[in-house]
Amino acid sequence: MTRRLAVLTVVCAELVFAGTAGDHPIENIFRPLSTPAHEISDVSFLAVIICAVIFSVVAGLLTYAIIRYRRRPGDSDAEPPQVYGSNQIEAAWTVIPLLIVFVLIMVSARVIASVQNAKPPANALHATVVGHQWWWEFRYPSLGIVTANELHVPLSDTAHPQPTFLKLESVDVAHSFWVPRLNGKTDVIPNRANDMWIDPHEAGDFIGNCAEYCGTQHANMLIHVIVQPKPDFERWVAEQQLPAVEDPSVAADKQAFLSVSCVNCHTVKGTSASGVFGPDLTHLMSRKYLASGVLSNTPENLRAWIKDPQAIKPGCLMPAMHLTDNELDSVVAYLRTLK
Ligand code: CUA
Repeated sequence: MTRRLAVLTVVCAELVFAGTAGDHPIENIFRPLSTPAHEISDVSFLAVIICAVIFSVVAGLLTYAIIRYRRRPGDSDAEPPQVYGSNQIEAAWTVIPLLIVFVLIMVSARVIASVQNAKPPANALHATVVGHQWWWEFRYPSLGIVTANELHVPLSDTAHPQPTFLKLESVDVAHSFWVPRLNGKTDVIPNRANDMWIDPHEAGDFIGNCAEYCGTQHANMLIHVIVQPKPDFERWVAEQQLPAVEDPSVAADKQAFLSVSCVNCHTVKGTSASGVFGPDLTHLMSRKYLASGVLSNTPENLRAWIKDPQAIKPGCLMPAMHLTDNELDSVVAYLRTLK
């Protein structure tokens, strides 16, 4: 019994603290890497500990009562003495929970205030997150960059603190932006701008997901926050600010791309493709994933995605354009040059 309990405890602890499971890292609020996430994690720990103490006391008393006062051979069938009311006990079970709730409210209010009232420092990066069914648009108005699904931000360590402040908007329905290791959930609501901020203390790729049911492909609306040391981030910015690469070897493929309906929904800066309904493709090859984090950005996946998006994300808003194999090859060949 004790052994089984020990095994169960270890398994639960592993589930809570696991960093990775197979290919997909489990993003965990108890492994925070950003100031707001740290504060949220501390409150969560406190709540878990308080709940664990309450559970232990209640379960302990219950177990004690069940064992100590169980029916034994020779007990009479007469009703045991009945006890009605105890002012002390009733006062205790009213006042103690009130105090616990009061402590939790005060601690939570302090954290909410400190996270929400933080003012952006002068060097803060500002970006706008736009929720779409079912992908994320990331704009950096001061840098003139528009990208999708992969939010690049600078590392903010103690030597070089530089938080990123995000403005969250939606063009269609309610979404929620959640990257557990960087901050809590913030709703993304049409006709309203919400704010949040992150200051990641470690470089890396941190995964999040839309956390508000927003339709068929809600579960496949992944977020990658790519945290880079300042020089790498600046290099990324410089590359993103360039117009689309002109590769003469794909001139015919480019014409093929510009002659199909892709251009109605997608932009490639410096060409006649200027649609804004879908992700900006100007630097598509600088992204690690396609289809909002669902596919690795490989030539095979790109071809399969363009050929029939509905087979990969059923119900998504990108239609199959019924391209011929030649057209498909050309579109893929051209897109592959958009570094
Ligand atoms: Cu967007 Cu759920």
